Amino acid sequence: MTKRVFNFNPGPAAIPLEVLEQAQAEMLDFKGTGMSVMEVSHRSKEFEGVIQTAEADLRELLGIPSNYKVIFLQGGASLQFAMLPMNLRAAGASADYIVTGSWGKTAFKEAQKLGTARLAASTEKEGFKSLPEKLDLDPKAAYLHITSNETIHGVEFFTEPTPPDNVPLVSDSSSDFISHPIDVSKYGFIYAGAQKNAGPSGVTIVIARDDMLERTPANLPVMLDYKALAASGSLHNTPPSFSIYIVGLVLKWAKKLGGLTAIEKINRAKAELIYKAIDNSGGFYNGHALPTARSIMNIPFRLPSEELEETFAKEAKGVGLIGLKGHRSVGGMRASIYNAMTIEGAQALVDFMAEFQKKNG
Ligand SMILES: Cc1ncc(COP(=O)(O)O)c(C=O)c1O
Repeated sequence: MTKRVFNFNPGPAAIPLEVLEQAQAEMLDFKGTGMSVMEVSHRSKEFEGVIQTAEADLRELLGIPSNYKVIFLQGGASLQFAMLPMNLRAAGASADYIVTGSWGKTAFKEAQKLGTARLAASTEKEGFKSLPEKLDLDPKAAYLHITSNETIHGVEFFTEPTPPDNVPLVSDSSSDFISHPIDVSKYGFIYAGAQKNAGPSGVTIVIARDDMLERTPANLPVMLDYKALAASGSLHNTPPSFSIYIVGLVLKWAKKLGGLTAIEKINRAKAELIYKAIDNSGGFYNGHALPTARSIMNIPFRLPSEELEETFAKEAKGVGLIGLKGHRSVGGMRASIYNAMTIEGAQALVDFMAEFQKKNG
């Protein structure tokens, strides 16, 4: 059998083994076409089946109401930082941002380049460890933007902030997409790069309420125009067909696991194992986020010295625990435990942490 590691990478990240095996089995002859899915036309009935089934499964998993469109885009979540204000913020209007980590800060900066954006809250001064206690909300804002999970700082919203009436809530849900149930009807717009929970890099998923699409100004280039891209069924130009195919397989896998309620239970169990190991280490391991804001997807933590952190990453890699080095802005370690990480993987990390502390504590 092929040797597989426990992959704690933040994205691109682990993909369920079953999904990889199915892709492998179908690689040379996709559904009797005599071609791989990468080689079939995006206008063929085979690919139509792929993209339509992926959308239907996503709608079922997340309970997406019928007055929302699903769009598959390219350019990563980073392109959405710019497309969002271009489409949803009318000329002269202002948009509100709640910044709880690096990604929200980047989204905010991008929005400022193109018009007016204001901070409804920022936890930067406290080192992005918490969720804001107070919000300064503009009742006239074009939208209120949050990052539902901050991948680098490991801070996650489990209860959405409530925007003022008629201000749509917008979320960058890249790193907690389909990791737990959400009430989509609370949002005007959701976007997520697929490469954490939903599949490979190369495709970004947008869920937009119909009235959000009516805001698109007439003069936008078509590749930046949500309304046109939605109207074409994500097929205005050649889509990232292989990435969408893998997303489709991941969604089938997620349904088979029992859907998002079942998936959240597993995710919480994994996170609890690791947070317990941190909390019970007598200060040897130090979590970045405050307990009230802790992410169940990304767990950044520090060790007593940078030297020990280096050794930890190196020795962990040696026993097949990959991708644990933290982001350079926070330092230390980070365990990304997306949907495809198994309990067995989380337990292997916890066992390694205990062993490492015994040797070095
Ligand atoms: C929360 C969040 N938003 C945005 C991005 C940027 O995504 P992309 O690389 O797809 O542009 C990332 C990448 O890690 C992320 O974690």
